Amino acid sequence: MSSPAKPAVKTYQNYINGQWVSSSTGETFPVFDPSTEEVIANVAAASAGDVDKAVKAARAAFDSGPWPATTAQDRGRILFKLAEKIRQNQPILAELESRNTGKPIVEAEYDIGDVATCFEYYGGLANKVNGSVMPVPANALSFTLREPVGVAGQIIPWNYPLLMAAWKLAPAIAAGCACVLKPAEQTPLTALEFANWLEEVGLPPGVVNVVNGTGEIAGAALVAHPGVDKIAFTGSAVVGKIIVKSAADTLKRVTLELGGKSPNVFFADADWEAAVDGALFGVFINQGEVCSAGSRILVEKKIYSKFVDAMTEKAKHIKLGAPLDRDTKMGPLVSREQYDRVTSYMEIGKKEAKTATGGGRAKAFGKGFYVEPTIFYDVDNTARIAREEIFGPVATVIPFENEADAIKIANDTPYGLAGAVWTRDIFKAFRIVKSMRAGIIWVNHMQPTYVEAPWGGYKQSGFGRELGPWGLEEYLETKQVYVNLDETPIGWY
Ligand code: NAI
Ligand code: MG
Repeated sequence: MSSPAKPAVKTYQNYINGQWVSSSTGETFPVFDPSTEEVIANVAAASAGDVDKAVKAARAAFDSGPWPATTAQDRGRILFKLAEKIRQNQPILAELESRNTGKPIVEAEYDIGDVATCFEYYGGLANKVNGSVMPVPANALSFTLREPVGVAGQIIPWNYPLLMAAWKLAPAIAAGCACVLKPAEQTPLTALEFANWLEEVGLPPGVVNVVNGTGEIAGAALVAHPGVDKIAFTGSAVVGKIIVKSAADTLKRVTLELGGKSPNVFFADADWEAAVDGALFGVFINQGEVCSAGSRILVEKKIYSKFVDAMTEKAKHIKLGAPLDRDTKMGPLVSREQYDRVTSYMEIGKKEAKTATGGGRAKAFGKGFYVEPTIFYDVDNTARIAREEIFGPVATVIPFENEADAIKIANDTPYGLAGAVWTRDIFKAFRIVKSMRAGIIWVNHMQPTYVEAPWGGYKQSGFGRELGPWGLEEYLETKQVYVNLDETPIGWY
């Protein structure tokens, strides 16, 4: 295994009003490579005061100057230029993303491709935002104007760092908003490299600002700030609830994508090979650090034992390795904190259920936050490992008797982000589609996500939708305009 030359440890600042600036306190925090546990960058930690500067810059850019005067066509062109920059720099960005998150380089390349596609999509959508004309019963014209919601605070998780930033920035720019983006403190690097291009593509200073730091300081300051009109958040349900409470004080619009405990349901009549693969892919892709991970694998009793055996056999051969190796299928978890969280759930799982494979640290690695792909079976749906989001490569396999039983177990969760069903019976497939309470249901697949289609949760997986026209809606206000066409006085007084 050849290890590529180590890049120099860079220092990054905050990007505020078109300038790279240190934190007002001078504080920085280290960013790690989770496969080596070495520091790969130091990043300025924004204080509440720095967040205030960023919000004021965004506010000023939104309220006056060149940005409010841009046309929808202008904004579309800016988004296409950003997409082009990303495509040109895809190898560099993918490598940086892989290094910083621990995800396999091949997956990081897909992610960065999706980032570019996201900017292209919203580049095309920017000038297709239409208002309506309403048939009010008066000699008048009543119509709507669609206007940007204002300054958006965007709080990003560490599992798909630049992609989650793109899902929020691209529609916001298309709408004409100004943004303050706060990347996850574990993985800010690709967003910071991206910020280098903002000026060059023609975004006026202050339209997009990037502040770094912890959720508790930088994130919380953004949510509480009266100059912010909307918060878009992807992350844990715990923090989602904190955000809603804090945002209530200034009645901000809030959209939340909070992950889940998604059911992946297998009937005996499913295509066998595709099903076994789909069960593994659904839960182990990106080390299981996926909001829509199919972490509850529901299997019809008729095939249950054979299915657990087949999954286990394949899982034992998943290639763990250095993130930058092209044949790596699973890298380390993102951080020590996540490693501790996931391994502690593995200990809980060993007590709550039977272990088919895995259950701890991947011992072949001397350093790095590597854990084994883990399958627990005979899991009761009331077990903690079946109810709580683990966000690592931990599958819980649950048997079910029949269709009604499957639906009951699938929906017995506080979450509702995603679900999947595997069967060749279209009647059964669509009955399940209609019965499952979640924002996306896959039939005979799990995980494909495209920018054209909506993404978001039911229940405690959050509210609001990203991607497609739905994602743009979340950055728009609706203004009604009433134009009287009748010149005769009202005659009321
Ligand atoms: P987190 O929810 O704490 O962090 C996500 C983002 O929110 C980060 O940018 C963080 O700095 C920010 N944040 C944290 N506290 C905040 C606060 N009080 N106010 C404003 N922003 C705040 O997630 P964490 O701690 O990294 O991971 C914990 C668990 O969250 C994971 O095990 C997983 O279950 C879940 N998670 C879900 C994600 C999803 O895609 N839905 C992504 C990341 C984590
Ligand atoms: Mg946290």
